[in-house]
Amino acid sequence: MARVAIVTGGTRGIGEAISLALKDAGVTVAANYAGNDEKAAAFTERTGIKAYKWDVGDFDACAEGVKKVEADLGPVDIVVNNAGITRDGTILKMSREMWEDVIRINLGGCFNMAHAVFPGMRTRKWGRIVNIGSINGQAGQYGQVNYAAAKSGIHGFTKALSQEGARFGVTVNAIAPGYIDTDMVSAVPADVLEKIVAKIPVGRLGQAHEIARGVAFLCSEDAGFVTGSTLSINGGQHMY
Ligand code: CAA
Repeated sequence: MARVAIVTGGTRGIGEAISLALKDAGVTVAANYAGNDEKAAAFTERTGIKAYKWDVGDFDACAEGVKKVEADLGPVDIVVNNAGITRDGTILKMSREMWEDVIRINLGGCFNMAHAVFPGMRTRKWGRIVNIGSINGQAGQYGQVNYAAAKSGIHGFTKALSQEGARFGVTVNAIAPGYIDTDMVSAVPADVLEKIVAKIPVGRLGQAHEIARGVAFLCSEDAGFVTGSTLSINGGQHMY
């Protein structure tokens, strides 16, 4: 039987590319989203992948969302924690809300989703959890103390949880994307982005499918010996 995956933030940007790559690999995918119903409906129409709405920053909503997916599609074998937001600003301009929203959604979302699926994966002795970190969690980034802290937290979370899953066939890995051509990166002021791209040795932004291919590998049967690792896909911008 086909494996079942949940991709959080799976209807747009990098998440959409991941949903499609897993579908191409023969996985039955549920794409979670939190925002725009119309865009999600268009995604389902375009791809044939079902979309499910809940806030990954809400612990109870994650438990309920996973239950709903399992009732529709069967036990969840794979979770890709991709959902994330930015609320950039130097610390002088960063409100407590900007800090808390990013930590709650980007880092809290990983805990909430893993908490909901881990017992089942452990019992069935097979699971794949892939967390989308960031170059900015590895290297830091001016104007992003919230985002860098959350993403850096994701890298620690990955290494810790991988140790809990290893004996049970549950692998936990992270991908650290660099600057990828998505709406999130387009929101960076053009002059700032120009300077960032100038520092990427490959000389361009990454493409969403270049992240998705890495995720698909980490979710595959072949990747059973890969756990606790971070795959950096950043055009050589940061070597870690
Ligand atoms: N290092 C040192 N100083 C810097 C700097 C840097 N990287 N960037 C800006 N500064 C300085 C500026 O030169 C300026 O100094 P002066 O006042 O002396 O001229 C001062 O800091 C203020 O800079 P800004 O005018 O830019 O400040 P702002 O408050 O208007 O904007 C900002 C700050 C919101 C952080 C803006 O610079 C910005 O959006 N930066 C990009 C942040 C970024 O890369 N976000 C990534 C989003 S995509 C993502 O996160 C995906 C992923 O995983 C990679």
